[in-house]
Amino acid sequence: MAVILDGKSLSKKIREEIKNEVESFRKKGFRNPSLAVILVGNDPASEIYVNNKRKACEKVGIRSLFYHLPEDTSEEKLLGLIYELNQDEEVDGILVQLPLPKHIDQTKVILSISPEKDVDGFHPENMGKLAAQIEDGFIPCTPLGIDILLRHYGIEVKGKDVTVVGAGFIVGRPLSLLLLWRNATVSVCHIHTKDITKFTKEADILISATGVPHLIKADMVKEGAVVVDVGISRLNGKIVGDVDFENVKEKASAITPVPGGVGPMTVTALLLNTLKAYKKKFSHLISTTNP
Ligand code: GUN
Repeated sequence: MAVILDGKSLSKKIREEIKNEVESFRKKGFRNPSLAVILVGNDPASEIYVNNKRKACEKVGIRSLFYHLPEDTSEEKLLGLIYELNQDEEVDGILVQLPLPKHIDQTKVILSISPEKDVDGFHPENMGKLAAQIEDGFIPCTPLGIDILLRHYGIEVKGKDVTVVGAGFIVGRPLSLLLLWRNATVSVCHIHTKDITKFTKEADILISATGVPHLIKADMVKEGAVVVDVGISRLNGKIVGDVDFENVKEKASAITPVPGGVGPMTVTALLLNTLKAYKKKFSHLISTTNP
């Protein structure tokens, strides 16, 4: 029976630490950190994600400024708002929830966010820093959350065969770069991979980020592997992941549940990135007031 990698309880602990750190800044006379969250349209899943992020911010003392724009908002209007938020000294982080409506060019929007406020880590400057192993950039939240979760449980990735299923821009691609940074041997599978099972069966650590419910069955997993499930889907009215949890947990040495695994860690990583943006802004003052 596998160890359950409990992202919910680890998140609770880390968020408590973030809350204390924010409080200590407040006591020294600094303002609260702040995150601007932009949602365009009414996608129900995006609304839930955004609400979770905002609630998590408020609980630790990060002010969340919410911009809920209608579905038919023009690209120009959205870019105008981001321009203003980039200039606003009181705003530390900017998050534009994806996906955006089809008439808006996602690349243009990502490029318009100031890299210093890009707490999602999607701007090419931050993705480039991730690829080049430069510490001062922002690492996208889900890869960062997984990294923190694995470290907490003492799961070493260095030298391990890690298979990532899914090469998407938000998770699979940046996660693969982060794992390389951590000296893993990384295989990345995607929709054009001829034989996914060939790679999943070899993996010491298997991470799936496809959004295909129960794609990963027990016979695709090596005995004793660590399994990380990034997927969140609905199957017969139930929230499930990419992994057939009930059967795979009998074979794995450790596994993340859905919900309560990677999901809360993603939100926690967002809080950490926002705190990082805030601290960078005040670093010259922090070092003089707190030698
Ligand atoms: N949509 C799904 N995941 C994410 C995320 O991590 N950030 C943003 N901005 N949008 C998302």
